[in-house]
Amino acid sequence: MKAAVVDRRGGIPAYRDVPDPEPGEGEVVVTVEAVAVENVDRAIVAGTHYTAAAFQEALPAIPCFDGVGRLSDGTLVGFGGLQPPRGALAERVAVPAVATSPIPEGIEPPVACALATAITGMSMRTAGGLRAGETVLIQGATGVAGRLAVQIARLLGAGRIVATGRDDGALAELVALGADEVITTAVDDDALVEAYRAHAGDGYDVVVDYLWGRPTQLLTQALTPDSFALPEPTRLVHVGEAAGPTIELSGDAVRTSGLEIYGAARNLATGMAAAYGQVVEWVRGGELRIDVTTMPLSRIREAWQRTDLRGSRLVIVPG
Ligand SMILES: NC(=O)c1ccc[n+]([C@@H]2O[C@H](COP(=O)([O-])OP(=O)(O)OC[C@H]3O[C@@H](n4cnc5c(N)ncnc54)[C@H](OP(=O)(O)O)[C@@H]3O)[C@@H](O)[C@H]2O)c1
Repeated sequence: MKAAVVDRRGGIPAYRDVPDPEPGEGEVVVTVEAVAVENVDRAIVAGTHYTAAAFQEALPAIPCFDGVGRLSDGTLVGFGGLQPPRGALAERVAVPAVATSPIPEGIEPPVACALATAITGMSMRTAGGLRAGETVLIQGATGVAGRLAVQIARLLGAGRIVATGRDDGALAELVALGADEVITTAVDDDALVEAYRAHAGDGYDVVVDYLWGRPTQLLTQALTPDSFALPEPTRLVHVGEAAGPTIELSGDAVRTSGLEIYGAARNLATGMAAAYGQVVEWVRGGELRIDVTTMPLSRIREAWQRTDLRGSRLVIVPG
């Protein structure tokens, strides 16, 4: 069969022949229909992600570790559970049967494999406790996950949605998706702190943070009052670190900003099923639009190097 194989750290996957997967005990063979390529997959191949060691030690290896495919009886399933060197960018994979779950009817495979990204948007409620009418700030809203989060904030009944990004054209698109106000982070530090304050209104109740790094550090400064105050809480849900892996957090900010920081996985153990079901319902009903760009596995080399897909998820399909 064909697969996309990486030979060295930071290499570009090559389309070539590999042996067919041989299922071990408890495993099933899945014919792959769609695999999303995310930042985390590129970072694992580049060796820069904290989980990259297993992939690097297994080289040559196939990237991406989950996707959507069909069992031998035709059932469409999501699959995971792959360990390097075995990855999802292949015509077929052998995975633990317990790591497969049926995809609900009415969801096309390329969209189905991007549902997990939409679930990160649900963290504004599962982890951040968003209530209807509250103000949400979405950091990194021009990306794939952020655009979904803007739509989800609207669907969850947020009162006001403030969205950040770096590109004016992309920020204008966010208004069409449901953002009430936008902030560009492509300004100097003082101007960005001022912008966060100017758009805060009565305060940000929930922040969905795909950025971390400089913009989120400046946000913590913006939330910190200049004189003693008892601010309302701002529940920041940390999802991604597109702008940097660390921030400097001052004692002042901890004491007086009202900032509460939660990981996106908070409450997911109990809230995942409901969040997933809600996202599926919105997608089926056309209320939530997941933008995907499909390319065939045979063109993985070209697909992997694309940099023009801002806001659209790259999904590799058979062919
Ligand atoms: N925990 C999870 O399950 C999960 C799932 C999906 C994503 N994530 C994480 O969430 C983050 C966003 O994912 P995504 O798929 O939406 O990625 P994406 O489509 O590449 O979007 C990245 C976003 O971050 C912005 N950005 C990138 N570098 C920046 C910088 N140096 N300063 C300011 N803004 C910057 C981008 O702005 P431009 O539009 O201007 O480039 C865009 O808004 C990533 O860290 C990803 O790994 C986590």
